[in-house]
Amino acid sequence: LLPLTAARVEGILDEGGTILGTANSGDPFSWKGKDRSTEVLGRFEELGIGGLISIGGDGSTAIAARLMRQGLPVIAVPKTIDNDVEGTDVTFGFESALRCATDALDRLRTTGESHRRVMVLETMGRNAGWIALTAGIAGGADIIVIPEIPYELSVIAEQIDRIRERGRSYALVVVAEGARPKGGEPLFRDPENQRLGGVGWALARQIEDLCAIETRATRLGHLQRGGSPSPVDRVLATSFGAAAARCVLADHWNVMVALRAGKISTIAIEKIAGKIRVIDRNHPLLATARSLGVCVGA
Ligand code: F6P
Repeated sequence: LLPLTAARVEGILDEGGTILGTANSGDPFSWKGKDRSTEVLGRFEELGIGGLISIGGDGSTAIAARLMRQGLPVIAVPKTIDNDVEGTDVTFGFESALRCATDALDRLRTTGESHRRVMVLETMGRNAGWIALTAGIAGGADIIVIPEIPYELSVIAEQIDRIRERGRSYALVVVAEGARPKGGEPLFRDPENQRLGGVGWALARQIEDLCAIETRATRLGHLQRGGSPSPVDRVLATSFGAAAARCVLADHWNVMVALRAGKISTIAIEKIAGKIRVIDRNHPLLATARSLGVCVGA
């Protein structure tokens, strides 16, 4: 038990991660195959805790929603690098991951250019392409492959040919870990636990074979999840935290705090639980990418 006194939470603004600890595979409704939710609810009662503030992505919010349906008052706070929580325009963690991915692209450009190679960067994000698309635009990628648009190898190869015809001897590719070829499936580095990963290496091999250009892949992995949070993320997390505290004081439960159209607001958990927010085909960021001549894989 860690009482969150003012003294305990002072001076942690620049710390990444969490002082509470976390898990992304700890569903009490299916804990090693057993439903242990009654024990969780019993423990809340025993400790005299009247409500749950759940900080996490779609998985955490779905669990919180189930506890809520069993009578526990809940407030959800959207936090994930994946930026895929329904009901909010942005989650905290995303911008810090974006910085990491953009920095990686800047670095890959240097070596790609000097060695005249295609450099492929695989980003995280599960089944949503927010990190890949946004970092791809910020880092000037030539090809951005996201889960929402299954890719065609021939389209990617055409873009590389076009770049070479223009006299440039290197190219930058960003691929989201959840990307899959048209008519195919995503790749899992750990199929048993459904952990995505490996598409960057697969794509690099295919590009090398098809385009006859030396190609290298980097899987950015957990680097995206660490380090000091960006200023934008600090402000967003603080604003969400303050909004959640105001909800508690106003006895306004069973909502998620959110940022929508520039405003901090709340939305009923029932409306968003179990849904993920992926990139719509008409999203302005995709229009921007296309206007810049970026290939989005199909
Ligand atoms: O949801 C955050 C996330 O980093 C995803 O982008 C990624 O697919 C997954 O978690 C990785 O999980 P783990 O840390 O368990 O390998």
